Amino acid sequence: MPPVIEIKNLKKHYRYGIRGMAVQAVDGISMSVDEGEVFGMLGPNGAGKSTTIKIILGLLRQSSGECLIFGEKLSRDSRRLMGYLPESPYFYKFLSGFELVKFYARLCGMGEKEAKTATMKALNLVGLGDAANRQVGLYSKGMVQRAGIAQAVVHNPRLVILDEPASGLDPIGAADMVDIIARLKREGKTVLLCSHMMSEVEKLCTRAAILNRGKIAAMGMLDEMLAQKDATDMEFETDDAEKLAQIRDFAASRGVSTLKTERAKISLDEFFRKTVEKSK
Ligand SMILES: Nc1ncnc2c1ncn2[C@@H]1O[C@H](COP(=O)(O)OP(=O)(O)O)[C@@H](O)[C@H]1O
Ligand SMILES: [Mg+2]
Repeated sequence: MPPVIEIKNLKKHYRYGIRGMAVQAVDGISMSVDEGEVFGMLGPNGAGKSTTIKIILGLLRQSSGECLIFGEKLSRDSRRLMGYLPESPYFYKFLSGFELVKFYARLCGMGEKEAKTATMKALNLVGLGDAANRQVGLYSKGMVQRAGIAQAVVHNPRLVILDEPASGLDPIGAADMVDIIARLKREGKTVLLCSHMMSEVEKLCTRAAILNRGKIAAMGMLDEMLAQKDATDMEFETDDAEKLAQIRDFAASRGVSTLKTERAKISLDEFFRKTVEKSK
């Protein structure tokens, strides 16, 4: 099976100002995304992530290079197989979540009845089933982002492209987003997840590319990229200093030096979420 996305030496420059100054937003990117994986595209602001996404979707034309979707040049048919959550989605706030998502379903060519069923399915998937009849203008930021995902998947696409889905969300909203993306993966969808939030990418992706200034600075399996050579982490279920000293002595007797011993910690994100959940 051909990769879901295959990009070869993709370049894109923008021209701006009256003199037509050029910015090289994407500068020779090659990568591929396989069926069923959540592929992470990381990078600082201005790295070229959104530009790459827009070329994949056919919203922008590349200056040079090639982009294949399901092994073919982008066409009307392959566009239908893609769903997209833009970076800062703007939704008409007087529509209810249901009306909003149904609107997109209708845009994709579904009949009224089919659109209604697909809309409820998408809203339930993102946990907005109970808020379906509330106006989008009254939604929290996290709910708006979730409605954005529902809109992106309502036509049951095979490839879902998410541009910074958790940006502006608190750690609880961000964790919900991770759950939703994990659900998409379980449904067998291929996801291109673009983010500058490392923790969510770490939780969801097996492979990722790090972009900087329009180029790929690193790409591969996350496990391999993050593994430290010649070092192993071990976690012991004790904080007894004496026992730990014995363990360290034993290791030393085998010629293995202990690089660090510190109290096991959870991340601040996790601590925050647990604390808020407990005080509900
Ligand atoms: N429409 C545009 N016109 C001119 N320059 C742009 C335009 N869109 C993006 N850029 C520039 O291209 C570069 C890459 O932007 P972008 O793809 O949005 O990066 P990212 O999504 O990684 O933050 C940046 O330097 C940005 O300023
Ligand atoms: Mg962007």
